[in-house]
Amino acid sequence: MPSTRRTLALFLIGVAAAATSAAAQQPAPAAPPPYVDELPGMGRPIDTAATALRRAALLGRLGEAVAVIPAARERDVETDYIQDNDFRQSNTFFYFTQLEQPAAWLVLVAHSRGSGAGTASGAGAAGGPGARADSAILLLPDRVPAMERWTGVKLGPGELAQRLTGIAQVLSVTKLDSILAAQRARGVPVYAPADRYSAGLPAYERLRGDSTVNLHDLRPIVDSMRQVKDAAELAALRRAIAITDSAQRAVAASVEPGMFEYQVEAVLEGTFRDLGADRVGFPSIVGSGPNSTTLHYDVNRRRMNAGETVVVDIGAEYGQYTADVTRTFPVSGTFTPHQRAVYELVLATNQAVLDSVRPGITLARLNTIARDYMRTHSGTACDTVTCDRYFIHGVTHPIGMDVHDVGPMSVPLAPGMVITDEPGIYIPQEALGVRIEDDVLVTVSGHELLTASAPRTVAEIERAMQRTPAPVRRPGREE
Ligand code: GLY
Ligand code: MN
Ligand code: MN
Repeated sequence: MPSTRRTLALFLIGVAAAATSAAAQQPAPAAPPPYVDELPGMGRPIDTAATALRRAALLGRLGEAVAVIPAARERDVETDYIQDNDFRQSNTFFYFTQLEQPAAWLVLVAHSRGSGAGTASGAGAAGGPGARADSAILLLPDRVPAMERWTGVKLGPGELAQRLTGIAQVLSVTKLDSILAAQRARGVPVYAPADRYSAGLPAYERLRGDSTVNLHDLRPIVDSMRQVKDAAELAALRRAIAITDSAQRAVAASVEPGMFEYQVEAVLEGTFRDLGADRVGFPSIVGSGPNSTTLHYDVNRRRMNAGETVVVDIGAEYGQYTADVTRTFPVSGTFTPHQRAVYELVLATNQAVLDSVRPGITLARLNTIARDYMRTHSGTACDTVTCDRYFIHGVTHPIGMDVHDVGPMSVPLAPGMVITDEPGIYIPQEALGVRIEDDVLVTVSGHELLTASAPRTVAEIERAMQRTPAPVRRPGREE
């Protein structure tokens, strides 16, 4: 593919010239292909009922106001994340649309429930007679077939977009300024996410620079909504977790002395893609020996030796939601007695936390439970000190569209929240690290272990690593 910006500029100049001076001699451009799920880069079918409910829930919280939410921008292959250039939507925009489309905007016009709001197609708020309707307006860039040859087919304004998104009003993004002007004239508060997706966008910066606009950050409201996952979110998370558990089983079946960490990464990320994951939810961590004691090591270049442990902390992303699952394997296939003692303590701490997960408890409290358990059950696993000294991170965080998802440590857990349970012990002077990380759904009656299909106990790990005949070490790139 031609790869310079200059080439693209020349191409576009050529397109423009063709359009103006030689239009009569050119065959009429073929009609742009329709937007269909099978076309590359178009994302998955949208759960229009789920997104309509989320929009209605937000509108119900806003009162008399307007919310203005930009999509992520297309990234540039030459200047922006060149190693990883696939488009990923802004979480806030995705939450309300599930639309994987760059440079779009969602405008939600809310009317106060006090005056009785009506039902707006695609917004979904009920109200009394004579009520003013809430409304949702999706603004999409107009399609440019010449650009689509470079960056793929896009969904433009029109009936198809209305049908696929379930949003009744889909207009050209060129209407954004006039829509915002009308909303500013209402004099109502304007809510927009104050984050990196908004920053620098002219429409957002104009709102920010106008002292007459009563501008608020939308993120705290949306982030609080995101803490409890709805059925569509849980389905995506379960799928991401199932893929990640499969990858952990594939790792167990392949780890052997002499293998490079990146070969483990290849096995697991190959499994991710093979099973339909969209991308990694975070850089895959494959840390062996001394690297097993570095929490977020992701260089993955070392050759693994017999007698070491390897910490594999990974998460497939599916439908914008990411798993976060860690397993620790003995490179030789069986733990040494000391490794086993440390592993059993980490596992028992993990279990103590799991047993405590239920509605009402806070993440902060789970942290205390983990530390207390590890401190009082260390025995001699960490020589003369208790092992909590080597447990240098928190035991839990929420997961969702971000691996470290929204939600403070102080919030009491509620059914529908999904959190990790991830104690670890890292002893640098022994080059020994062990972490066991599970994903847990809070239910009405307690919890559900979502990561049950990944080997977890010593016996399960060692059994999953057994293979016959004796393994043959595969050469790595550096040999
Ligand atoms: N995978 C990152 C974490 O567990 O925090
Ligand atoms: Mn985690
Ligand atoms: Mn993790």
